[in-house]
This record gives sequence, C-alpha cells and structure tokens, in this order.
Amino acid sequence: MKLEIDRIAYSEFDFDTYFNEYIVPKKPVIVEGVFTFDSDKVTPEYVKENFSNESKKELGWFDSDLVDNEIIAIPDFVKKILAREEYAVRKSPMRVFMQPQGHITLPHYDGNSLHGLNQQVIGEKRWILTSPKTPLPCMPFMYAGLVGRDFVYAPEKYDFYDFISKPGDVVSIPPYWFHEVHSLGKVNCNANWVFTPKKPDESTGLGKREVEIVKLRKTWPFVNKAFFPDEFSNYGGQGEELIKTYSENVGMTRMVGRFVKELAAFPKTILMAKQLRSRADEFKKNNFNV
Ligand SMILES: [Fe+2]
Repeated sequence: MKLEIDRIAYSEFDFDTYFNEYIVPKKPVIVEGVFTFDSDKVTPEYVKENFSNESKKELGWFDSDLVDNEIIAIPDFVKKILAREEYAVRKSPMRVFMQPQGHITLPHYDGNSLHGLNQQVIGEKRWILTSPKTPLPCMPFMYAGLVGRDFVYAPEKYDFYDFISKPGDVVSIPPYWFHEVHSLGKVNCNANWVFTPKKPDESTGLGKREVEIVKLRKTWPFVNKAFFPDEFSNYGGQGEELIKTYSENVGMTRMVGRFVKELAAFPKTILMAKQLRSRADEFKKNNFNV
C-alpha cells in the first residue's frame, strides 16, 4: 500500500523520540527545516569546487570526509547518531549528490547495510521508498532493482512512500529500503551521511539476503570479484569485524541456497541488460553535471 511519510518540524525536534521511534525501528521519516547550510553560499560552483575529489568519485555521487563549517554544517542529531557505539562509520561517511532536472536514479538499496540521512540543499527531489518487507526483484548479487523504465509500484503488491523533499528536509533512508529518486529542480544537490548498524537486521527478506551475500563474498571470493566493485576486506570501510559478525548465523546450506536464488534471476537480467546498462550510464553521466 501507499504509505504516508511522517514529518517532524526541526523547531519541535526531540532527539530521543526521533531516535527511538524512527532510527532504531528503521522507519523512514523527514525532519523539516534543517537549515544547517548557507543557502547563499552553497551554489553549484561551490559544490563542484569543494567536493569534486576524483579519488572519491563514485557511480552517482562524490564521497567526502565529514565537512562541518559555517557554509555546510552537520546537523547535531546526525553527529549524535554517527557517534553512537552501535553504529560503524566509514572513513568518508559523507556523500554529495548534484544532478540536473530530469535525472532519475535506478531503484536500488544501499549496499553494506547503510542507513542514510539525506539533506536536500538545493532543488527538490521526488522519492519512492519501498519497504524491504515487499522488496523489488533484485539484479543477481547486486543491490539494484531488476525493473524496467515502465515499472509501476502496484499498491497491492508493494509498501512504499512517494513524497517530495525540499531544501532543509533531512530524509532518513533505513537499511535495505529501495529508493528511486527523481530530480525535479533545475539543479538538485543533497548532502548525505551514512552509517551501518553493527548488528544485521534479519527481520526482512532483504536483511537475510544481505548476510547471506556477506557469507558468499567471504567464502567464495570469485563472487566478490565478479559482482562487486569494492574491496571486501573491510565491508565497505565500516570495519573488518563486521564481515565476521554479519554472517555468523549463516551456514553453508543457507549460503548455497542464496547462490542458487541469485542465479535464478540471470535470464531476466540478460533480457533487460541493455536497458539496465543505459540507466546506470545516465546515473554516472549526471554526477555533478549541472
Ligand atoms: Fe542509494
């Protein structure tokens, strides 16, 4: 069914409520009016000049070390969450997105069990967030949806939110929630901070898939080599110890079962390959290209 996103005004923000009612139970929410950036100074030129670090360039964004100054500051509640013991935080936990109007990201969920807090800085975006309890079909071993451009989110099949973010909104995208994002403004820029719960959440099919894939990547390195762009040595930068703890409940039978399930999606992937590749290329091409 189509769900209604909760919105909290920053002026009435209470950290414990936010943390216990949304972050811990992994329920999407928007905090509105978080103007921790200087709207006059954060221009596309400023973003390009300060965040186009080629060594941190990813498929559709630039990773960054934390930036916290008078032009772009980290909201206090984000700092508090990143500092918590139960989360693993990578060395460069900030991501900056900047895309032109019309850009659409292929629906996907973020790998390595990332939880994202995404702040709209310039422009507007339309988000479709799909629950990991009713996941989209996945590309084999990957985190992207195996769906075409004409895909329709049927409310009888999928639980999803469909909403628009405006400057000052901070959207929480919990682990394993699929997101398809449409850039609506002329220029659209977002700051995003990511962290990973140290304990995996196996309460949904995608949470189970994550730990099974971790076990596969660890046990059969050829899977890792063939399907994943990043090194697996430290679980995407969140820490080596997570590789062990994430997959500790997964036995060999479960792991092989996952391998077979992933292989079953290959025929459909081959049929859709051209379309999926062109969407991935668009995502890449539009990175900071405004
Ligand atoms: Fe994402």
